[in-house]
Amino acid sequence: MRDILAPESARWRRFVDVFAEVVEAAGYGPLITPLVEDSGVFAGVGEATDIVLKEMYRFTDHGGRDVALRPEFTASACRAFVEHRPPTPWKVWLSGSNFRYERPQRGRYRQFDQVDIEVLGSDDPFVDVEVIALGWRFLQRLGLRQVDLLLNSLGEPAERDLYVDALRVHFDANLDALSPASVTTLERNPLRVLDSKRAEDVELIAAAPTIDQFYGDVSAHHFGVVCDGLDSLGIPYRIEPRLVRGLDYYVRTAFEFAGGTLDSAQNALGGGGRYDGLVEQLGGPQTPGIGFALGVDRTLLACDDEGVFASPGTAVDVFVVDTTGGEHALVVAEALRAAGRSAERAFDRRSMKAQMKAADRSGAALAVIIGADEAADGTAVVRPMRGGGEQYVVARPDLLAHVDALLT
Ligand code: HAM
Repeated sequence: MRDILAPESARWRRFVDVFAEVVEAAGYGPLITPLVEDSGVFAGVGEATDIVLKEMYRFTDHGGRDVALRPEFTASACRAFVEHRPPTPWKVWLSGSNFRYERPQRGRYRQFDQVDIEVLGSDDPFVDVEVIALGWRFLQRLGLRQVDLLLNSLGEPAERDLYVDALRVHFDANLDALSPASVTTLERNPLRVLDSKRAEDVELIAAAPTIDQFYGDVSAHHFGVVCDGLDSLGIPYRIEPRLVRGLDYYVRTAFEFAGGTLDSAQNALGGGGRYDGLVEQLGGPQTPGIGFALGVDRTLLACDDEGVFASPGTAVDVFVVDTTGGEHALVVAEALRAAGRSAERAFDRRSMKAQMKAADRSGAALAVIIGADEAADGTAVVRPMRGGGEQYVVARPDLLAHVDALLT
């Protein structure tokens, strides 16, 4: 867990603002859910997944309740749906911190932020296309160009079960060739073996059966419409039949956005898919759902690599320098802010030289200087700080008009 200071923190806020703009333009409303939920809410993420078994911050609260810090948003959104029963399709977006007790490394932390959308209550494949397209459009809006969209269908649950059996048979027949870690994974969840990046597993994974051999007509049709929809939007994707993702709730469409500049073991900027049985598992009616989450950290790392989406500047419009004690700065800075300008000032009765230095550091376009003479005759000096221009004296009542003229 770590602190994020300006200007990086300002970049995070802008990241969320841009995401909100993109998804709100498609009718998604913000959803705010608690950081702490009943632990049972996250059972649907998969009892056998690392997230639930090893990574959840789970504890008993003072009332004896078994609770957990959320490791992701999807289960919370489904829980909220069951509780409030909003009209469907329910289209929401979320942002904020999630918690997983993982081994920290570049782009991976124990408290990390995601932006996320979820749609509950429709199994129309065009919803899948809309959701994927919004993720794609957002990444493009950030300026990222080296992103790969990986797409798969995990089939209906029954087809997926048959596939899991086939995988088990395949790996069981070759146990000696499998890494010890993957042998353990195999016992819990054969699908997750496909995620192994260990060198000794690569060959066996490449020879494993693929899910497309198990699609029935309905899933094949659904997947076909999703692919055609992406084609008609001109969104490039690669079908990746071994893409399974790390959470147990996925059925049918699953996808991932991979950052082309990132190390391949950690290159998922985010991903998502359908989780048509999750609401039911949480005690609600049969309700299909689909969504995705993007990790803020990894997406910003990709932005750094591509040199896009830089930190927004923190410069103010005006720095007010007051060498008479600070009361004039108080009034002038407030008046500027009330007029919609950003303004800073110095404190602690600093010297003229120190205040000018602070003005320079603030990045302000203009300094407004009030010394003893200006204080006495009700004027102020306006000094352009960047790009040249002479300083001059203005009467105080005219100051705002001059600042406006110089800044536009
Ligand atoms: P996920 O794949 O577990 O999916 O996480 C999505 C993204 O969150 C990852 O690709 C990664 O960028 C980021 N992330 C995950 N763990 C960490 C970490 N420890 N540190 C930094 N970043 C991390 C989900 O969370 C699903 N809820 C997505 C979804 C929404 N599926 C349907 N709807």
